Amino acid sequence: MDRPLRVAALASGRGSNLAALIAARLPVTFVLVGSDKAGAGALTVARDAGIPTLALNPRDFPTRADFDRALFGHVADSGADLLVLAGYMRIIDAAVVAAWEGRAINIHPSLLPKYRGLHTHRQCLDAGDAEHGASVHFVTAELDGGPVVAQARIDVRPDDSEASLAERLLVEEHTLLPAVVRAIATGRLRWQGTPLFDGQPLTSPLTPAALAV
Ligand code: GRF
Repeated sequence: MDRPLRVAALASGRGSNLAALIAARLPVTFVLVGSDKAGAGALTVARDAGIPTLALNPRDFPTRADFDRALFGHVADSGADLLVLAGYMRIIDAAVVAAWEGRAINIHPSLLPKYRGLHTHRQCLDAGDAEHGASVHFVTAELDGGPVVAQARIDVRPDDSEASLAERLLVEEHTLLPAVVRAIATGRLRWQGTPLFDGQPLTSPLTPAALAV
């Protein structure tokens, strides 16, 4: 590609992962940040960075599919090559997601395939795991179920709470997500029906160290 990768992001929350993406000075152009919450901090982060924003209220649409078609219509109109779900907290209609196969990634705070969905830190503590982590995966219709491309790991400490785990993991997320987007922007990470890294199918998730080389 002879121009920077065009990136759109969707976020429902405070937007710290979006802020980390922006701060990483990646070779990309952010074309849109969209949200299902007009008050999302992520929209403020985007506006402060001069990125076009969009908020749609799901309640203004008769069905989830109608909302998703509208939102993803805006994403398509933005000209995005890549869609990053950076704390986007809604399940997306399967047919709408299918159109983005290989072009959408999500960051999820668990070592997938463990703990899909919500309350991942609590699930990790309840299970007595020695390790916790975050995953970046290509998005498929299955919630948090697409092929994992990269993971960052942290040790669970005896005195950890959900909050302390979340806080420590977030630091890792802020390195992991930009590293994956950089790898896509530079062509190292590609999708050909399956993720390829430096031309080879991934046999295990990339580590932050592998992505930094
Ligand atoms: C992160 O923990 C991310 O992994 C999860 O939602 C959280 C979003 O945080 N999907 P932020 O809005 O990026 O600060």
